[in-house]
Parts: sequence; structure tokens; C-alpha cells
Amino acid sequence: MAFLFNSDARRGAIFAEAFAKELPDLPFAMDTATVDPDAVRYLITWTVPENLSRYRNLEILFSIGAGVDRFRFDVVPAKVKVVRMVEEGIVRMMQEYVALSVLALHRNLPAYLAQQRAGAWRDIPQLQAGSRRIGVLGLGQLGQAVLDRLKSFGFPLAGWSRSPRQIESVTCHHSELGLEHMLAASDILVCLLPLTEETRGFLNADLFAKLPEGAALVHTGRGPQLDHEALVAALDSGHLSAAMIDVTDPEPLPPGHSFWSHPKIILTPHVASVAQPATAARAVLENIRRHRAGLDPIGLVDRSRGY
Ligand code: NAP
Ligand code: GLV
Repeated sequence: MAFLFNSDARRGAIFAEAFAKELPDLPFAMDTATVDPDAVRYLITWTVPENLSRYRNLEILFSIGAGVDRFRFDVVPAKVKVVRMVEEGIVRMMQEYVALSVLALHRNLPAYLAQQRAGAWRDIPQLQAGSRRIGVLGLGQLGQAVLDRLKSFGFPLAGWSRSPRQIESVTCHHSELGLEHMLAASDILVCLLPLTEETRGFLNADLFAKLPEGAALVHTGRGPQLDHEALVAALDSGHLSAAMIDVTDPEPLPPGHSFWSHPKIILTPHVASVAQPATAARAVLENIRRHRAGLDPIGLVDRSRGY
């Protein structure tokens, strides 16, 4: 029986140390070339390896990230449990990134950066937080954590998910109608949806048109959810005021892409949140213990939903 770590060596070393300490009976391997494929019961990776079928005794396929959209489910046998990353480091980083973005948009940072480049010293009328409505698409581990972090600033908060949710001090919506209501009342919209067939192309011209005039976007979901041309058109027409974009399609963006230099876009290279190896190793160890005790792992993916 073995655990196979298929990612970068730096993080692997931290995982190896945690496994040696916490689960010494489980051999830890980082070399796919030398590991006995029949021994591999657990595999952690970002993408599903081409030769997954060689791990005939695989029981759990762990994603090293929160998203599992890079996994091709059709090549993963039905008996294998797929588990996304649920750990405190990834949550904390996303809270920081979205708080940074919401505050930057709330305080008109993109416009002030453009003014600085133009040598203009001019104040922009400032809304108070109590009048800036935030809507979050996706109320999973990250959406909920981000809303929790935003509470202290006094923004009116709302969120949208597939199933009905109840979160203190957050107006929760679901369904198409719920989405329409939330969009109409979101001055800053944050996307934290997983990429599925239903959410591909979700941030498009129709959706932008349903946001209030002057609304702004924070996109930290996945690149293929965003229609780049529609965003640029909405920004150029003035319907949207600004956007903080962390994920794009493709990644990286090609030279000359309009996002690189658009004055109303602040772009970061898919860095909003990254699993932290020490806490991620603890989460994976806990899931192996749960699995051995006959319990479902935390973060078990429902393949029929795609997340
Ligand atoms: P999660 O816990 O699985 O939550 C997903 C949320 O989205 C749930 O609330 C779910 O609704 C909702 N949802 C999914 N499909 C929907 C649909 N068609 N309509 C309405 N709501 C839908 O996921 P998470 O851990 O919060 O992560 C969310 C995503 O963040 C990841 O999949 C990844 O794409 C992205 N991410 C980005 C970065 C970055 O650095 N940019 C880092 C980490 C993660 P229910 O509650 O009803 O199930
Ligand atoms: C990063 O994007 C992740 O899914 O963890």
C-alpha cells in the first residue's frame, strides 16, 4: 500500500515529513517511475496522469487544489473516490484576495491608478460600505469564508448557490430567479463558482447587463467562466466600472491581449489562493484516516455535479 505524490518536490518534501510522522505505516512515494503501481492506493495530483489505469488498486484520487475541473472523470474508474482540497491555508488566502479586491474596487483603486498614470489629482465621490452591495456566486467553502471575512466591513452581503443555504447576515439566493435578484442588487460581484458545463461562459454579456450600472467584478473562479470580449465591451461602454481578474482562458494570456493594459482591469496570474503544503498534508492525512474508518472523506466530489 502506498501514497503517491505527483506534484512539485518542494511541497512533496513537506508532505513526506508529515506522512512519516503521522502515518508511518503508509509508504510515501514521489517518483512515478519507480513506484509499484499495484501498491498505489492514494494519489494526489493537479491533473489526472495519462496512465491512471496502471494504478489498478487506487482508492482515492486527491486534487492538490480546490478545483477539480482539470480532472477528466471519464478516465477515473467509478470505484475511485475523487476528493478536492479543503484546508485552512487555501481558505485564508482566498479570504485575503477577495477582501483586497473588494476593498480596491470599493475605494476606486483602478480609477486612481489610471489617474496616477495620467498625472491627475482628483477625488472620486466615495460610497460608504453600507451602501456597496456585494454578491458572491458560489457558497461553498470559499464563498462562505469570503463572506465571513467581508462581514466586518459593513457591506450588505448576498450569495447564490445551487441549493438553498442559510448564512447569518447574508441574503442567500438560489435558482435562476434568485440569481436575477442577486445580480440586480450587486455593486461588486465575486465569482467563486467551480468550472462545470453549467458554469462555463457564465460571466457573459447577458449576466453583465443584469448588474447595476457601474458595478464591478472580482473573478477568482476559473478562466473559461468569463467571456473576455463581453467584459471588455461592458467596461468600455461604462456599464461596468472595473474588474479584478485572477483567472483567464488561456493561462497565461498571450502577449497583446487587451486585459494586459486595460485601464479598468487589474490582472493577477492565478495566484488568489494556493493550497499550503503543511495544512494540506494534515487535511489529506485526516481524510485517509476517515477513509480507513469507513467514513467519506471531506471534500468528496459528486461526479454527477462535476464539483
Ligand atoms: P465548493 O465548496 O465545491 O463550492 C462550490 C459552490 O458553487 C457551492 O456553493 C455550489 O452550490 C455552487 N455551485 C456550483 N455549481 C453551481 C451552479 N451551476 N449554480 C449555482 N451554484 C453552483 O468549492 P470551493 O472550494 O468553494 O471552490 C470554488 C472554486 O473556486 C473552485 O472550484 C475553483 O474553481 C476556484 N478557486 C480558485 C482559486 C484561485 O486561486 N483563483 C483557488 C481555489 C479555488 P451548492 O452549495 O448548492 O453545492
Ligand atoms: C486553485 O486554483 C485551486 O483550485 O486550488
